[in-house]
Amino acid sequence: MKNSPIGVFDSGYGGLTVLKALEKILPGFDFLYLGDNARTPYGTRSFEVVYEYTLQAVKYLFSRNCPLVVIACNTASAKALRNIQQLDLPKIAPENRVLGVIRPSVEKVAEITKNGHVGVLGTVGTVTSNSYPIELEKWSKGKVISTVQEACPMWVPIVENNEIETKGAEFFIKKNIQNILQKDKDLDTLILACTHYPLLSKIIQKYVPEKIKILEQGQIVADKLLDYLQRHPEIGDKLTKSGNVIFQTTESAENFENTASLFLGREVKACNIHL
Ligand code: DGL
Repeated sequence: MKNSPIGVFDSGYGGLTVLKALEKILPGFDFLYLGDNARTPYGTRSFEVVYEYTLQAVKYLFSRNCPLVVIACNTASAKALRNIQQLDLPKIAPENRVLGVIRPSVEKVAEITKNGHVGVLGTVGTVTSNSYPIELEKWSKGKVISTVQEACPMWVPIVENNEIETKGAEFFIKKNIQNILQKDKDLDTLILACTHYPLLSKIIQKYVPEKIKILEQGQIVADKLLDYLQRHPEIGDKLTKSGNVIFQTTESAENFENTASLFLGREVKACNIHL
């Protein structure tokens, strides 16, 4: 039988933090990971461009027989998901599903915060889209939430260029964390609203006071997906479970293999594709 994997898409390596959690919570499922490393970062690109690139990726994953695609990228979820779900999906593949990372994250944040003081660290695109404050207001179930945001434009390039363990990385991370802590002295919850950021979490933790809870999205998205599949067996039944995980990148397969192997802690084989 032909494989029907869950498609996982990101602008680059960040979505691997989501894939890792998905593999744990859905063992044996087939996955097709696609990183648009040739065009990363998305965070500084316009709405139109992020939408165009993300739609290309979703169409490609559909063509590779993925009935369900997880956009494991906040920037793409903020700028492209709604259009894809409402305008494109009904035309190109009404029976398929495309899910993002913002809604599950927002629901978790609203559940976790005790005093309603929430900080969002994200790309320029995610922060300027205001998706988090807007969605937090919508899904906080009456809890009053005050949100401050900080765009961290250097963090994705640090990860994509594997500059994580450097003084440069430390400099930018410290600066952005200090900025957000200044914006609200009562923060009790900080969401890493970019799937690349958990790869920097060791340094992030150094600068965030212990009383502030740092939320990473991998586990949150994985838990919600499991719940979604239980509620939607018509989608779950289409997914094959032969334990195949395929990695594809729009950049050099060799570079992808080296970096992804480091991040996932196991050997990764990838191939190059064109969108
Ligand atoms: N991982 C993407 C996100 O969650 C990074 C976007 C980018 O390429 O700048 O927003």
